[in-house]
Amino acid sequence: MACPSMNELPSKRLFIKTFGCQMNVYDSERMTDLLTPLGYRLTDNPAEADLAVLNTCHIRDKAAEKVYSELGRLRRFKDDRNQAGESMVIAVAGCVAQAEGMEIQRRQPAVDLILGPQAYHRLPELIARVHRATGRLVAADFEAEAKFDALPQVRNVKGVTAFVTVQEGCDRFCTFCVVPYTRGAEFSRSADAIEGEVRALAARGVREITLLGQNVNAWRGAGADGLAGLVRRLARVEGVERLRYTTSHPADMSEDLIAAHAEVEALMPYLHLPVQAGSNVILRAMNRAHTRESYLRIIERLRSVRPDIALSGDFIVGFPGETDADFEATLSLIREVSYASAFSFKYSPRPGTPAAALPRQVDEATKSARLRMLQELLNAQQAAFNGAAVGRVLPVLVERPGREPGQMIGRSPYLQAVHFDAAADRAGSMVSVTIEAAHANSLAGRVVESA
Ligand code: SAH
Ligand code: SF4
Ligand code: F3S
Repeated sequence: MACPSMNELPSKRLFIKTFGCQMNVYDSERMTDLLTPLGYRLTDNPAEADLAVLNTCHIRDKAAEKVYSELGRLRRFKDDRNQAGESMVIAVAGCVAQAEGMEIQRRQPAVDLILGPQAYHRLPELIARVHRATGRLVAADFEAEAKFDALPQVRNVKGVTAFVTVQEGCDRFCTFCVVPYTRGAEFSRSADAIEGEVRALAARGVREITLLGQNVNAWRGAGADGLAGLVRRLARVEGVERLRYTTSHPADMSEDLIAAHAEVEALMPYLHLPVQAGSNVILRAMNRAHTRESYLRIIERLRSVRPDIALSGDFIVGFPGETDADFEATLSLIREVSYASAFSFKYSPRPGTPAAALPRQVDEATKSARLRMLQELLNAQQAAFNGAAVGRVLPVLVERPGREPGQMIGRSPYLQAVHFDAAADRAGSMVSVTIEAAHANSLAGRVVESA
C-alpha cells in the first residue's frame, strides 16, 4: 500500500551504478525499492544525484580498481553541487565495501558511507545519520537473514523477467576467491519467503524468474527439499512460465536436481556450471572439491536426462603453477563438453586469499596468450551452437523493444537473445520464432505463431 504522505515528500534523485554479478543487480534493485518510499527517484545522470551509490565488485583487481576511477568522477560532481549550495551523499556498497572498509575513505575522502552486501537494508537509517553529520559511516554486517526480513515486500519490477536471490554467501573457499570473505557464510532464505516474492512478481507480469545465489544449488532453506524441491514448488506458481538458476557448484549438483531438468517443464534447458580448469592438479590447488572426471560425469548425467541442455561455464587461466600441460587439459575439457557460452578470466591474485601467496605465479604474457587461445575455442563453440539454431523453431518469451522500429527482443530456452518483428504489446507472451540468422551473441528470426 502506498502511504498517503508519500506524494508530499520532496523528490530526491538517486544514482546507482552496479558492478559485478547478478546478485549485485538484484541488490541494486532492492536498494531502489528501499529508497523509493523516502522520495528518491532514479536518475542516470550522476551530476544531479542527491545520493550516488556504487554497488561494487571485488572479484578481480580490475573490477575493484574501476570503483576508484568512478569515485573520482563522482567527487567532481559532489564538489560542483557543494559550490552551488547543495549536497550529495556518496555511498559505496557491495563487495569492495565489505573487503576494504575504511580504506576506501582513505583513498577517496568524498565518500560518506560504506556498506557491505548484508547491510544495505540499513541505508535509510545511515543516510539520515550522514545528514545529521555524525561523521563517516561504515556498515559491514554479516547477517543475511536480518537484511531479507527488513526489505520491503513490494518490488518495483517492470519487465517480464526478474532475479530473486534465494541463497547468499559461500562456504567453499576456493583458494582464488574473495566471495566467502565479502558475502559471508552460506545462508538460504525460506521457501515461503521466496515463494511470496515470486508470487508478487508473477502478479506484476513477470513470467521468467532466475533464482540467484553465489552457490545456488547448495540452497538448504526451510520448506522444500533442496533446490530441486524449491524449483518444483515455484514451477506451480500461477504465471511463472520459466525458471532458471545460477550460479551452481559442480560438487552440489544433486541427482534430484538433475532429475528436475527432465521433469519440470518450466525449468529451462540451460545450466551455468563453472569448472574453472581441466587439470586435476590445478583443481586441487584451487580447492574446487570436484575433479575433471566428476565434472564430466555430471554433464553426462544431465545430457542423458535432457539431451538438449545448453551448458555454460567459467574458466580461469594462469592459476599459480599452471603448466602448458595443465592448460592443455582445460582446452581438452572444453572440447569434450562443448559450451554454448562461457566466461573466462586471467587469474587475478586477491589480497588475503591463499592462492595469492602461492609460489610459481604465472607471468602476464603467458596468461594473455592462454586466455586468447581459450577464448578462440569458446567463441567458435558459441558460434557453432548459435548456428545450429538456424532453421529451427524456438519458443521465445517476448521481453522488450529492440533497437529497430517494430522489433522486439526475447530469449530462447537456451538463453540466446532473439530479435524478431512483433508488436510492443506482445511483451510477456510466448511466441514461436523460426530462426533465420545467427550472430556472435544473438539470433534473428520471424514469428510463426503464438506459442
Ligand atoms: N560461485 C561461482 C563463482 C562466483 S565468482 C562458482 O563457484 O563458480 C565468478 C567467477 O569469477 C568465477 O567462477 C571465476 O571464474 C572468476 N573468478 C573468481 N575469482 C577470481 C580471481 N581471483 N581471478 C580470476 N577470476 C576469478
Ligand atoms: Fe568463490 Fe568458490 Fe564460492 Fe564460487 S564456490 S563463490 S568460486 S569460493
Ligand atoms: Fe563481485 Fe561480490 Fe558478485 S565480488 S562477483 S559482486 S559476489
